[in-house]
Amino acid sequence: MNEKVLFENKIGVIGAGHIGRALILKLLEKGFPYENIQLTYNGSIFTFSDIADNNLIDMISSNAEIVKSSSILILSVPPQSFKPIGDFNLDKDTLVISFMAGISSDEVKKQTGSDNVVRIIPTGPDTIMNSHAIAGVYGESKVAEELFDLLDIDYYVLDDEEKMNYMAIAGCLPAVYCRIDPESDENREAVDKISEDFPEFKEIAEKCEKLVPDEGREEFIKSFSTPGGITEAIFIRLNNGRSMYHALMRGLERNEELSR
Ligand SMILES: NC(=O)c1ccc[n+]([C@@H]2O[C@H](COP(=O)([O-])OP(=O)(O)OC[C@H]3O[C@@H](n4cnc5c(N)ncnc54)[C@H](OP(=O)(O)O)[C@@H]3O)[C@@H](O)[C@H]2O)c1
Repeated sequence: MNEKVLFENKIGVIGAGHIGRALILKLLEKGFPYENIQLTYNGSIFTFSDIADNNLIDMISSNAEIVKSSSILILSVPPQSFKPIGDFNLDKDTLVISFMAGISSDEVKKQTGSDNVVRIIPTGPDTIMNSHAIAGVYGESKVAEELFDLLDIDYYVLDDEEKMNYMAIAGCLPAVYCRIDPESDENREAVDKISEDFPEFKEIAEKCEKLVPDEGREEFIKSFSTPGGITEAIFIRLNNGRSMYHALMRGLERNEELSR
């Protein structure tokens, strides 16, 4: 598919928070037509203010409208907020791209009605904005891959959905490396141990070392931290003086909790 065909899609972003807005802004930067993107959020005045500051007000829609009119539906709400949205009743072939950690493809399929579901777990929103995002992808779709390429995402198509759990902690590494020196024994030990279960982890971790910003590290960490999410869980342990391996294992556990 060429860009012209891709740009004919109607993209609906349910949950225009950190990740959702980063995606939209990157799509616009790449020339995706403004009028073919719709978004929703949950009424936060801070989110509204960010949407306004980025000139995205005309994209604001409702979940009901987005579900009706989108050919590509992006799910970027916190995992805990997905179930309460209720059934989507989509056509089976509507492409659904879920950024949510912890929610399996089967659950997304069941609730949306689509059979065409792709999951992606990227590094944080800033890395999407600066074209350095690394991601794990589960599920196959040419259109989704075209979109990830357009967004300059360096993605690994994973052969087992279990690996997405490890990807959820790998995606936090650029933030973790703002606190833990990648050259430290602590990091090497954590990476070696986790690579035993998720071999791609080592290569992804090496790439993540290069994503640590020189300045504004606290803001960078904040942008990775979905409230109640995995990065937050990891940082609670790191702030309590636990080892990086222990903190990442807590992240894995939090991912598991979110999936219930
Ligand atoms: N941040 C990361 O680095 C990262 C990395 C990989 C994956 N993820 C995944 O990406 C998803 C989004 O993360 P995030 O950091 O962007 O979270 P976020 O900043 O909290 O954004 C979530 C957005 O969803 C909106 N929302 C909540 N309930 C909604 C509903 N019923 N209908 C429409 N919108 C609703 C919220 O609206 P309000 O603003 O009005 O509350 C908010 O804008 C999560 O599932 C997370 O697991 C995040």
